[in-house]
Amino acid sequence: MDLDAAATTSASEAVVRAVQDFLPWYSSVHRGAGAKSQFSSARYEEARETLVRFVGADPATHVALFPRNTTEGLNLIAFRLGLTRDDVVVTTAIEHHANLLPWRRNARVRVVDVDRSGTFDVAAVVAALDERPTPRVLAVSGASNVTGWLPDLAALAAAARERGVLVVVDGAQLVPHRQVDMAALGIDVLAWSGHKMFAPFGAGGLVVARRLLAHGEPFLVGAGR
Ligand SMILES: Cc1ncc(COP(=O)(O)O)c(C=O)c1O
Repeated sequence: MDLDAAATTSASEAVVRAVQDFLPWYSSVHRGAGAKSQFSSARYEEARETLVRFVGADPATHVALFPRNTTEGLNLIAFRLGLTRDDVVVTTAIEHHANLLPWRRNARVRVVDVDRSGTFDVAAVVAALDERPTPRVLAVSGASNVTGWLPDLAALAAAARERGVLVVVDGAQLVPHRQVDMAALGIDVLAWSGHKMFAPFGAGGLVVARRLLAHGEPFLVGAGR
């Protein structure tokens, strides 16, 4: 049963209590003038800030969106970046399909291979970043769902940023297991799944640098749900 938690956890008792406490006060978010609607909208906006701080980002520069899970978050950002078929995304052979298929659909993918141990060197990623055409995005997993291996995100992000390449991290297996500091690591976008860390199902996190969104404002994923 515990091993199943890598795929999905059930909500913790504290989460169940918090949801139960809130439900009687729920009314549509950003779609009503009533007191409950205003209360719910305020809680919704507070939750964005909580999520941003939870992963070490600054609410002044980053904003949280609420996709249902990592897959939806990565699809959203892959679409939202307005990539074309000529744009290149560097990614790796350790990725879950959630961090591969959205990029394949929206751009051209350059995949960094793994060695016999199922890992890759930072140098291999740097070589892929230096190939022409210069990529627009590095999309990499923060922790492998197969081996648990943790790539050196700080070094990868530094190499990408030096080359003006956006850093998008699949945090599905990282965020539930390690404290993440997006600012220190230099990550632009981080996606993860609440259902892998005791949240109610259908509650994911996508923290995005505001500069990547039109006018720096979030589009309201799931408002009124
Ligand atoms: C590394 C990794 N990325 C992405 C996903 C997809 O997560 P979800 O199904 O919650 O979208 C998983 C799920 O196991 C995963 O382990």
